[in-house]
Amino acid sequence: MSGDGGRRIVRVETPPKPYPVLIGPGLLEELGPRLREEVRAPRTLVVTDANVGPLYGERALASLGAAGFDCSMVTLPAGDATKSLDSAARLYDALAEARIDRASPVVSLGGGVVGDLAGFVAATWLRGVPFVQCSTTVEADVDAAVGGKTAVNHASGKNMIGAFYQPRFVLIDTDTLSTLSARDYLAGLAESIKHAVIRDAAFFEWHEARIADLRARRLDCMPELIERNVRIKAEIVAMDERETTGLRALLNFGHTVGHAIESAMARGGDPWRHGEAVAAGMVAACEISVAAGRLSRVEAERIAALVEAAGLPVTAPLSHARSRILALMNADKKVAAGRLRFVLADRIGQATLCGEVRPEWIEAGLDRVLR
Ligand code: GLY
Repeated sequence: MSGDGGRRIVRVETPPKPYPVLIGPGLLEELGPRLREEVRAPRTLVVTDANVGPLYGERALASLGAAGFDCSMVTLPAGDATKSLDSAARLYDALAEARIDRASPVVSLGGGVVGDLAGFVAATWLRGVPFVQCSTTVEADVDAAVGGKTAVNHASGKNMIGAFYQPRFVLIDTDTLSTLSARDYLAGLAESIKHAVIRDAAFFEWHEARIADLRARRLDCMPELIERNVRIKAEIVAMDERETTGLRALLNFGHTVGHAIESAMARGGDPWRHGEAVAAGMVAACEISVAAGRLSRVEAERIAALVEAAGLPVTAPLSHARSRILALMNADKKVAAGRLRFVLADRIGQATLCGEVRPEWIEAGLDRVLR
């Protein structure tokens, strides 16, 4: 751990300017001064959602105001439906009204939806204005807030319109995790398990040893959990920011089936969290890995057991929607040259991007999770 007054700091080494991810309690109070060190502009726009804004909006605005920023805040509806071009258009109007010029930062305050949307708008307004992520969910802390992927959804699929755009810094105030719903908290653990499966067998064992504490929401586990995830993500992003070598694509483990499940579940009255869909998607990906002769049955079951012990779904109630799931998977942007590419696990701690995935392996994966 590299510390700064008890805080953990991980640097993401991306061009043109590496940036820090700051992790620790009480960090929202430092938002204003830290942003003031980055930019001289007089104005800023904060983007949040209806869950997070009422809880932490005032704290963020007070810190920014004390640092001399003239702040406006836009509060959008919570949920994945907000990650749309319509919401982006609403934010462009707010940016125009707030007279946000090229030197003025956009600050996201929330989870992955708000971060992805605000980042996309920051990347495109005036061809790019400074951007800062204040992450408030486990899912965003361990994955979405780090690495510069910004996007909105399109009718043809999730995250279809976007840009790689790195923030000036990421601020993870771990105090904000205390107000997460149990469901949102657990959903965030899916991406942490994913990082362990693809990259770090010792971290997988760390999860197994602490799963009762993690499930019981022992928040004292979180700084280490977040730091270890951010380190894995930062290392991968530094080597393959634009997902050109196949390394960063490993972070999509569980996401091909997971995104399809998430889209299909969004149609019902109980939309799934991203992490819940990724959890079931990882179980499918393990089954496909076993069918492909890569992963042992024993390790596949160990991964499924950890997912289940974390209180996450290992199946999805979508047996009636199998053809739709397949269509959604084929529309996924991870399709290359008309062929589905899957991230398959070789063993716990190592995964490979695979372009040759036989239909019967995919069927085996869907058999396992669609119930
Ligand atoms: N969440 C996957 C990535 O950032 O590449």
